[in-house]
Formats: sequence, structure tokens, C-alpha cells
Amino acid sequence: MPDRQRMFLALWPDAAVRKSFVEIRSAMHFRRGRMVHPLDLHITLVFLGMVDAVQLPCVEAVAGRQDGDAFDLSIDHTGYWPRARVAWCGPAEVPLPLQSLVDGLQRDLRACGFEPEARPYRPHVTLARDARGGATGPLVPPVVWPCNRFVLVTSTGAREPPRYEVVRQWPLQSEKITLTDS
Ligand code: 2AM
Repeated sequence: MPDRQRMFLALWPDAAVRKSFVEIRSAMHFRRGRMVHPLDLHITLVFLGMVDAVQLPCVEAVAGRQDGDAFDLSIDHTGYWPRARVAWCGPAEVPLPLQSLVDGLQRDLRACGFEPEARPYRPHVTLARDARGGATGPLVPPVVWPCNRFVLVTSTGAREPPRYEVVRQWPLQSEKITLTDS
């Protein structure tokens, strides 16, 4: 294992959802842009940056300790951030279980030496960088992404994409077990 690696925690799509993202992107008809490799498409939960060998077990323990619920993410619009020149798709609303997961991770990762992100959480799938001329707006119907796990990802530093590799994953609870008297 390298001494330090660039890492982030993320929601990682399955093949069907990934295919939908690629279709959404095709329909945007960019004039130009660098397309993110299909196998690299994701939503970042918490960007960690460089993680050293001492911090990694702490990160994994924190991730394993979260008891978040599974949720459906409605990817219902595309957008463009002109300053970053990033084209993306994402949910208009942040579901409560997603916000709780991000808040819990940020809170607990302080103990591993990571400061929480100051900006509000804006979940998005980056579709293209240095993008120009893509159409943005509501996605009707939305892509419904069932999120029942989250993952730890490392940047491989590969010259050719895909550039990210999932190194571990943790489940999100599909349903609450209700204890009754009977
Ligand atoms: P982006 O797609 O909006 O660029 C790997 O680089 C992932 O971490 C990407 O999802 C990227 O978001 C995100 N990321 C990179 N640098 C970041 C930073 N300084 N703060 C928050 N997220 C970052």
C-alpha cells in the first residue's frame, strides 16, 4: 500500500444507472468537453484528499460505524457550473438519509484529521469537464438511483481512464427492523 493516496467516499452506480448517466450526457450535445469515463461516474459524499497509512484505518472505522438508511436518489436535472466548466446531473433535493450520512461522516472524520467541508453539500455526478455548449434542465422522467451502499475510492493515477478504484464498500440499511411485543 502506498504511504499516501488520494481518496474520497462516494455513491457508486451500478451498470444500469451508469448507462442512464451516459445516455443523459449524450442528450446534452456538448460542443466540446472532456467526458468522464463511464466507469468513473459517481457522486462524492466526502472528499478526503491525501490519506496516509495511519489515517486509513480510522477512515474505514468511521465509515463502518455509520448506520445510515438506504434511499432512492432522484436524478432529476442536469446543470452547468460556468466557473469550474463542469457539466453534471443530480438531485434537486437532498434526501434526509443522504444528508444525515454526509453529516455523520464529516462529524466523525474530524477524529481522523479531516476538517468538514464548509460549503453546503451539493450532490452531483460530474459528466464532463471543460464543457461547452451542453443543454441543461429538468430530466423527465428522472433516473431513480437506489442507493444501498457507499464506497471508499482511490485515485489510481492512471494515465488513461478509468482513474478511480473502489477499495471498500459499506451497506446502507434497506429497512428498519421494528421490534414489537408480539
Ligand atoms: P467534482 O467531480 O465536482 O470535481 C474525485 O476527484 C472526486 O472528488 C470528484 O467527485 C470531485 O468532485 C471531488 N473533489 C475533488 N476535489 C475536491 C475538493 N477540493 N472538495 C470537494 N470535492 C472534491
